[in-house]
Amino acid sequence: MCSIIGYSGKLNLAAPLLVDSLKKMEYRGYDSVGIATLNNGNIMVSKGVGKVAEVDKELNLNRLPGQIGIGHTRWATHGGVNDKNAHPHYSCTSNIAVVHNGIIENYHELKTELANEGHIFKSQTDSEVIAHLLEKYSRISNNDIKKTMIETCKNLKGSFAFVAVFDNGIISGARFDEPLIIGISSQALFLSSDVLGFLKHTDKSIFLDNGDIVILENDNYTIFDDSGNVVQRPLTQVAWELGSSEKGKFAHYTLKEIHEQTSTLLKPLNDSNDFATFCEYLQRASNIYITGSGTSYNSGLLGKLLLSKYARKKSEVYMSSEFQYFSDTIEPNSVVIAISQSGETADVLHSVKKAKETGAKIVSIVNIPTSSLARMSDSYVTLNCGPEIGVAATKSFMSQLMILYKIVSTLSNQYVSLEGSELKNLQNLISKVLGLDDKIRNLINSLDSNIKDIYILGRSIHYPIALEGSLKIKELAYIHAEGIAAGELKHGPLALIDQESVVIVINPVDETHLDVISSANEIKSRGAYIIGLSNLRNEVYDAFIELPKVADYLYPVIEIIPLQLMSYYLAIKKQVDPDYPRNLAKSVTVK
Ligand code: F6R
Repeated sequence: MCSIIGYSGKLNLAAPLLVDSLKKMEYRGYDSVGIATLNNGNIMVSKGVGKVAEVDKELNLNRLPGQIGIGHTRWATHGGVNDKNAHPHYSCTSNIAVVHNGIIENYHELKTELANEGHIFKSQTDSEVIAHLLEKYSRISNNDIKKTMIETCKNLKGSFAFVAVFDNGIISGARFDEPLIIGISSQALFLSSDVLGFLKHTDKSIFLDNGDIVILENDNYTIFDDSGNVVQRPLTQVAWELGSSEKGKFAHYTLKEIHEQTSTLLKPLNDSNDFATFCEYLQRASNIYITGSGTSYNSGLLGKLLLSKYARKKSEVYMSSEFQYFSDTIEPNSVVIAISQSGETADVLHSVKKAKETGAKIVSIVNIPTSSLARMSDSYVTLNCGPEIGVAATKSFMSQLMILYKIVSTLSNQYVSLEGSELKNLQNLISKVLGLDDKIRNLINSLDSNIKDIYILGRSIHYPIALEGSLKIKELAYIHAEGIAAGELKHGPLALIDQESVVIVINPVDETHLDVISSANEIKSRGAYIIGLSNLRNEVYDAFIELPKVADYLYPVIEIIPLQLMSYYLAIKKQVDPDYPRNLAKSVTVK
């Protein structure tokens, strides 16, 4: 959830490099930012609340002198969002500074113990204990950094990755259930939460294993396990395209990523990595489970309905945060489809770990092939949709759906057809729906500025899209939104509807159409404002967004686009930043 970076090299001064890296990884957390550099034997820290560009402008972070350093963007877990809690954290004597990502579960005990030994704490974070532990063990070991790191890690419980800078010129990091990657160029070494932190300088990387500790000293790096044995990890060449993340002509990444869907749509279908093996696992399985969080859960929900309706394959879908409680019910010969854009979501990794313990096979759908989830899986397929910088998932959702359609098509013996001409047609139709951008912006601008509640109705395979649309509105525009299975309205939610409600009905002409029209009429008679998403106009709609006609099973792919655009324009109308919704982070690496 936070991003951490360490830099040791001859490229330049450390500060501008660190600031640039943090801008690339800001999606991971953006409450506050800070860097520490080593200059003439002194560690200098500069940090403050806000996004990287704001804090840099105010404090001139990038002018901090020094050749090596560390940096951090924070997503607060322990302690409020203020300058003191921003990272890096110093040890008492300021000869060590630390940046941390994750949670130290036993920080309270450690803090009490260290305070009793005389350590002075300056923040309310769990992270600061790491700096004091390092200080304690470096004193005991007479500045032996390897021993210091091992002893410190032995004392920490939880899932964490941290990077520390020592005033003797050494940078060291540890990875325990949070990502940490070494970037290696002839000129510099990096330690980073994401390859985006160093991809501008090098594509050569080493993905550390859990329990690995690394020391960067001058041009050299040494990796050892938590017992101190030197270990070798394979060198990976990361695709440069992962770093191509400019906004282009768009005002925000989110809008750019929504519009990119015409081109990203087909990419997962062309990437054949392991797809046949992936499907074989599913074909042989007696039980299929699907898991994911947030948007990835919503795509899993649609996957379950598509598998059942079109491939006659039964599956169970669980939110990853809930799945752990049911892992003991997993029967032999089960396969879990784990869906995660980042491949680093702690809830997903934890539930997959528990499922693996029961003997289940794991097949995953990820955007990042080097992610922890991909590496834990028996087989994986990739979304191949490029980096998604906007915190709200948009194009990755679409790509997840396309992979799920491909799976259903394979398992249904092509009943769900994804033939070349149909896909070309789908691509044209998606462009057509994206062409509604202006119309949707005008519609949103015409709505009352004080909307409190938006409901989205859909039945059958449109229901997961109603859920996903409402998630987008909540996170981008901070408006209460609820996706409701239209038939359930009369069983309770109808009581919420009044003249101030805005209700979007997902209503293409298929087997659900007439029932949804009835629900819309019931709502209309309570005075709500109704926006119809359909390929057929109806007088019950106060506003109408026309969807093109497609094969019934493909409507979800089309329907989500107007909902993404509506959410984006609701955020713009409210003057909030759609790329970085408050309180959220792109990669949720805490449980
Ligand atoms: C919503 C959103 C989140 C993520 C969720 C899982 O727009 O982005 O709900 O979908 O945190 O993330 P991944 O897919 O990376 O596991």
